[in-house]
Amino acid sequence: MRGSDGLPARPRRRLALLLVLTLAASGIGVAILAAGKTREARIVLTGARTRVRKCGCQEGRTTVSGEIQIEAGPTKSTSTALLVPEPGGLPERSAWLARTRAREGELLQVDAGDLLFPGAEASPLERGEWRRRAELLVEVSGLMGVQAYVPGELDLALGRKAFDELLGRARFPVVAANLVDATTKKRVFSPSVVVRTSGLSVGIVGIFDPPLPSDDRAQLLAREGLEETDAAAAARVELSALRGEGVDLVVLLAHASDEATCALIHFLGDDAPDVALCAHEAKPGAPISALEGDTMLIARSGSADLEFARVRVGRRRRASNVLRESIRLDARTLREGQDREVVRAIERYKDDLKGLALEPAVVAGLESPLHSAGGFLIGYRTAEGCASCHPRQASVWRASPHAHAWETLEKAGNHADPECVRCHSVGFRLPGGFAEARRARRPAGAGSLDFRNVQCESCHGPRLAHPETKGVGRPPILQTCRECHDAEHDPSFDERRRAAAFDGPRPICARD
Ligand code: HEC
Ligand code: HEC
Ligand code: HEC
Ligand code: HEC
Repeated sequence: MRGSDGLPARPRRRLALLLVLTLAASGIGVAILAAGKTREARIVLTGARTRVRKCGCQEGRTTVSGEIQIEAGPTKSTSTALLVPEPGGLPERSAWLARTRAREGELLQVDAGDLLFPGAEASPLERGEWRRRAELLVEVSGLMGVQAYVPGELDLALGRKAFDELLGRARFPVVAANLVDATTKKRVFSPSVVVRTSGLSVGIVGIFDPPLPSDDRAQLLAREGLEETDAAAAARVELSALRGEGVDLVVLLAHASDEATCALIHFLGDDAPDVALCAHEAKPGAPISALEGDTMLIARSGSADLEFARVRVGRRRRASNVLRESIRLDARTLREGQDREVVRAIERYKDDLKGLALEPAVVAGLESPLHSAGGFLIGYRTAEGCASCHPRQASVWRASPHAHAWETLEKAGNHADPECVRCHSVGFRLPGGFAEARRARRPAGAGSLDFRNVQCESCHGPRLAHPETKGVGRPPILQTCRECHDAEHDPSFDERRRAAAFDGPRPICARD
């Protein structure tokens, strides 16, 4: 439905964009806008898949006319080389915001939910870290100036009590017009909020309509003592109330898919918002901004870090889109101008992670090898335990980059962060491996093992029972490499690079 509705609007939008760019370039655009005839809201939409900080996994990696190289050092010319983008995190977002504010003026920042947690369920090993990470995200969202937020289903991963505690400290309002307490039937959040941006008053209505099968949704809400009321009815009441108040721009902030949001817009008819912002695109890669009737729809794209849109507020009060961009934050180009408070908050978070400790019983449970159905043990031997029988492979491995992956983390003080440890070690949070970053080198004694670095069993599978028992290993295939050389941390990794990994000065292993 979006395609046919959206199409006629596109050429107009291009023209408008061209006009604005031309005017802005000549310096007249600003004057016209300032004259107050047409006004603009500049909207930044965030939510879901928030990266706390850059990894540095792509640092030193360049592409030269399609070929991938590691920079030899600062002296080597990179004039023809394109740097592979290094995905940025919150500090980079703060730098982008500062630059964009300097260029464009005030920004309206809203978050469409799934802000707090990376998944729907935390294991007992992860709860403490998830909680601390969510605290950081709430704090930093406030520091960066988020003005409204609608909860997503993932935000309830640690339960409603944790949610309330976390958001209780937020500097921004939580809006959800259709969530009520199961017992009191009263709303748990305010249905809407009116904020100011660029001289405009903007009314924002929150709707919780996550793309979950209805059973899962009912189960989740029941677990947390919540109920949802009819989203369309709640939206209609709140949106028309805001219109009645005479706000300049009426915005729907929906934790919903773009499809559900489209359906809602059409259902609302005359009560439809000027702008609808939603959390999920249903079809990855589909155009994600479109005109639905008179409503400008903007959905969070799966691959971008944030969405940026300029929305013109016309005389007839209906909005039209002037510019729409999906932004990927590149750590290489966003080093300057990072917010110091944001950077400091992340430093505190990293320090706190070092102090987080799991229950000893949880640690012991995970770190003891499993008894498999076949009667052998599943667990790790670590590289030291392989070297005696496979000295050739051991010496090749020792000279390989994998054998230094932990050192890489240590250099930047990131070896306590579970988000990094997973791929720069072996056996992290796997049976017979190690449960906590600080136990990467298990204390001396009977079970003393060293899990630091990418090791033999990262590729060949846990081999405690080897060689006595056959079939415990796994032959390394491209997919094995991709568990770590994934789209985010090593986007240019492919079959060619895998095949080349046995050649060159630092091969990854040796065949027999
Ligand atoms: C999903 C797995 C994965 C995670 C998680 C991960 N890394 Fe990496 N990291 C890699 C891979 C794979 C490489 C090698 C990339 C390449 O060669 O292009 C790498 C390389 C690096 C390098 C560059 C090494 C060099 O000298 O070229 C640094 C620095 C680094 N990672 C730091 C981190 C930090 C800090 C974190 C946590 C915030 C992290 N990594 C999380 C997989 C990961
Ligand atoms: C006590 C000696 C011994 C130790 C220790 C040992 N291996 Fe082996 N490994 C062998 C023997 C013998 C074979 C060949 C016989 C076979 O195919 O079962 C073999 C075969 C292999 C193979 C090729 C066949 C397969 O199973 O995939 C790999 C890979 C391997 N070992 C990896 C490891 C790793 C990794 C470790 C350390 C975790 C390790 N080995 C520890 C003796 C050992
Ligand atoms: C457990 C995670 C993990 C797995 C599995 C893994 N790697 Fe890596 N790999 C890394 C990390 C981390 C680095 C960066 C090490 C550093 O420099 O600190 C790296 C670096 C490399 C490098 C050197 C940088 C480059 O790309 O030129 C090569 C080559 C490489 N890996 C190939 C492979 C291949 C091939 C496989 C699969 C057979 C594989 N890796 C499996 C984590 C992994
Ligand atoms: C980054 C992944 C990776 C790491 C780390 C690694 N290997 Fe390998 N290893 C491979 C791959 C890939 C092969 C080739 C398998 C093939 O050709 O089918 C291989 C081959 C082998 C073989 C020969 C198997 C055969 O059938 O030819 C042995 C034995 C072996 N590795 C043991 C080890 C030991 C011991 C270590 C640690 C000291 C280690 N590997 C580290 C990926 C790795």
